[in-house]
Amino acid sequence: MDRKRTSILISGRGSNMAALIAAAAEPSFPAEIVSVISNDAEANGLKMAAQNGIPTRAIAYKDYSSREEHDAAIDAALGESGSELVCLAGYMRRLTPGFVEKWSGRMINIHPALLPAFKGLYTHAAALAAGVRIHGCTVHFVTAEVDAGPIIAQAAVPVLADDDEAGIAARVLKAEHRLYPLALSLVASGRAVLRGGRVMHYGRNSGDTGDVLISPAPPSTEPDTVDLEYLARFTP
Ligand code: GAR
Repeated sequence: MDRKRTSILISGRGSNMAALIAAAAEPSFPAEIVSVISNDAEANGLKMAAQNGIPTRAIAYKDYSSREEHDAAIDAALGESGSELVCLAGYMRRLTPGFVEKWSGRMINIHPALLPAFKGLYTHAAALAAGVRIHGCTVHFVTAEVDAGPIIAQAAVPVLADDDEAGIAARVLKAEHRLYPLALSLVASGRAVLRGGRVMHYGRNSGDTGDVLISPAPPSTEPDTVDLEYLARFTP
């Protein structure tokens, strides 16, 4: 099988990176992780990648005189590793339009919210403030506009009544670790493709799973446990 050579760009902790590395350790996974690049030499994820035998590079912005030069250095490193796909995993720098254009359709990002809601930073605080009952994460192709690229896959989690920011962040992060490997496998195997600004899904994953996530969870619909008081609220 032709496994797509994939690099991961990080800025810090690297837990999504670790999820991708773990998934790609499986020989049947359609992508192999060939390098991890960080804009911060101290990023914890770099150590974790090295421990897993993945070549790492630190390419710090301060060593370059412009954003274009910095991105050109990253692009050169991607070229040296023969990368065909790029995963942004907590990469916290804006990329230049030229770099984004060059990797169009081949660069994906994970965002901790159900886009197009809650773009940018502090997504969990924003979700709590908005009072949404369902929150989640999105993997999308990267385009020039931040957090606005065509959506590949999303995972939803409930927001519970007593959630604080840390609680909801942990629940979303767990979902991220499941979603990102799935989304990378869709792209690497050609089952999710960017065409004319939209994501086309091919094969088994284009189907409707039939699942519905409702939050808060309604009372059980088993006949003997129907919550009549609850149902009465919907009776005209
Ligand atoms: C993740 O929650 C990711 O979705 C988010 O940063 C975190 C990185 O954690 N990314 C963004 O906010 C990008 N706009 P990690 O380093 O442990 O994967």
